[in-house]
Amino acid sequence: MSNEAIRLTTTCRSRTCTGKMCSLVGCDEPDPDVRSMEMRRDELRSRKLDMNVLITGGCGNLGSRLVVPLVRRGDRVALFDVQRRPHARSPEFDQARFIGGDLANAGDVLEAVRSHAPDTVFHLGAILSAAAEEHPGLAWRVNMDGTRHVLEAAWQLGVRRVVFSSTVATYGPGLPVPLPADAPQWPASLYGATKVAGERLGVYYHHRFGLDFRGVRLPAIVAPRGAAGGASAFCSAAFEEAARLGAYSFYLRPTSRAPMLYIADAVQGLLDLHDAPEKHLTRRVYNIAGIGPSAEELAQAILQRLPNVRITYEPDPVRTAIVESWPWEIDDSCARRDWGWKAHYGLDRMADEILEVLARESQEP
Ligand SMILES: NC(=O)c1ccc[n+]([C@@H]2O[C@H](COP(=O)([O-])OP(=O)(O)OC[C@H]3O[C@@H](n4cnc5c(N)ncnc54)[C@H](O)[C@@H]3O)[C@@H](O)[C@H]2O)c1
Repeated sequence: MSNEAIRLTTTCRSRTCTGKMCSLVGCDEPDPDVRSMEMRRDELRSRKLDMNVLITGGCGNLGSRLVVPLVRRGDRVALFDVQRRPHARSPEFDQARFIGGDLANAGDVLEAVRSHAPDTVFHLGAILSAAAEEHPGLAWRVNMDGTRHVLEAAWQLGVRRVVFSSTVATYGPGLPVPLPADAPQWPASLYGATKVAGERLGVYYHHRFGLDFRGVRLPAIVAPRGAAGGASAFCSAAFEEAARLGAYSFYLRPTSRAPMLYIADAVQGLLDLHDAPEKHLTRRVYNIAGIGPSAEELAQAILQRLPNVRITYEPDPVRTAIVESWPWEIDDSCARRDWGWKAHYGLDRMADEILEVLARESQEP
């Protein structure tokens, strides 16, 4: 494979790049955040070019955005989901193949993997935390059985790599802050319990069958339109409702604090973990950190930009207990060291971008 071919199928990751100076290992523009040249070269070599990729939960908040850089870099992407409506629409989403199916049904998963023959599966499909408390049977079938079905299909049909979206909800209350890399995982929610099980099962498939399983524990993901089913839904909904309705009522206390990550960083984290050379990995599941504002600090970020918004607090005991059980500051040094992880969005940059996107969308016909 020539350097030219590698360059053509690789997207520059520098956020300041104009595209004029792009080279094999990224961009000539100075960017203090990019990892060493050697690590970037290893990363490019570690991934097969023009891969077949399957994303479970591919129409969701994260999946419908992860498809964009994958399609742009030349991968053939299939989206496996129970429903077809994209959380975020894009030309790249429309280029991906849709495979309808239910994670809880082993036959659906096996058929999807057989028909698309992916090199990599990003396993993102899940029932999120608040929805899992409301529908525990469904959460068990999708998150527990579904994850086993994905791992089983992957190793039976020779998938090279499975990337799993785990969560900080795998940790329970009473842990030190910042959360150490190897803190015990005794989650307070059913969702967290199913995700710990997913991590352990993936590691089992790695040791037992040699499957290249890797996972990342994501904080609450903030997006211009976020996922609705999590106890973390407030962090996106606060921006949306403030922009659209001029008011937002937090179902938390002003002091409730949660770990958060902007969606662009979450997508980049999944890609970077996927692309990391296996020899650099010292563990199979990594913590990554973004920001950890309280509800009140989030409200302040909104009020600085939209001063007329009315913010109130009506704490819901179930969701408040779930959110307050999460570690809001996290040691992510292992991910930084092994695969160059770094979040690029702080609270201000994130608030600016979300409100800009929402304002632009509100002008669209
Ligand atoms: N949103 C967050 O704040 C957050 C935080 C940490 C981790 N995560 C994890 O990231 C992943 C993606 O989350 P998201 O924010 O995109 O959530 P989402 O709810 O927007 O997306 C989940 C997708 O899974 C699909 N799905 C649900 N049941 C299914 C089934 N039986 N078969 C096939 N597909 C099914 C849904 O239709 C949806 O499109 C999940 O695994 C979640 O646990 C999310």
